[in-house]
Amino acid sequence: MNIAPEHAPVEDTESNCFDPKAFGQMMRLVTDLRRLYQERNEALQEVSRAHHEALFRLALAAETRDDETGVHIVRMGFLAEALAREVGLGSDEAAMLRQAAPLHDVGKIGIPDGVLKKPGPLLAEERAVMDQHPQLGAGILGQSRIPLFRMAADVALTHHERWDGTGYPHRLSGEGIPLSGRLVAIVDFFDALTMDRCYRKAFSDETALGMLREQRGRAFDPRLVDVFLGATPRFIELRDRINTVQPRFTALQEGLPA
Ligand SMILES: [Fe+2]
Ligand SMILES: [Fe+2]
Repeated sequence: MNIAPEHAPVEDTESNCFDPKAFGQMMRLVTDLRRLYQERNEALQEVSRAHHEALFRLALAAETRDDETGVHIVRMGFLAEALAREVGLGSDEAAMLRQAAPLHDVGKIGIPDGVLKKPGPLLAEERAVMDQHPQLGAGILGQSRIPLFRMAADVALTHHERWDGTGYPHRLSGEGIPLSGRLVAIVDFFDALTMDRCYRKAFSDETALGMLREQRGRAFDPRLVDVFLGATPRFIELRDRINTVQPRFTALQEGLPA
């Protein structure tokens, strides 16, 4: 069959013609874009790392004023993560708590030495100054849009609230206290009791666990205390491993070395 020239298929010269020069330029463009994208991601990760590190250093500065080594806040991070996992939180949320928990006392940076380091019991007006540290901490962490710092601000503000509503600063009670604050309160209590302080020696694990049991439903969420007491050997093993490995606080970002 003859096809008249005006009805013959027209060859699409634009799409069918391979131009090695244009192709080379396009591939270079793709490579450049990939490199730029990678550099941008690395820069964002670096900013995020620097942001976290600045806050950890602030937490460390607050902590080393009454715990010279600062190991308490590192243990706190890993113990809080472990308790969160035992309670059933997902690994991402638990890892966020690992990084948020060490900031619980960051507000102590604003408490004068005369109060923070006083060896004896505090007078009522000194106690009132000391009890400002949750709000000072929440103020330092601010109204961030970053979920980690929002969690850290919650922890700083609520770690001295009590399950029975007699805590501070807002006398929250029960599940009105954020879960992050309830979890951190338990590991903070246990870890602080089992470490040496300038004014007393560490309590034994058994004594500290007995004191924790006594506060079940008083200071602390009874369900969370039960989980802690049901998995005590795992927490003690983790704490002892941290004491042996002595990880730097930067391990809070990446996790414990295997
Ligand atoms: Fe505190
Ligand atoms: Fe603490």
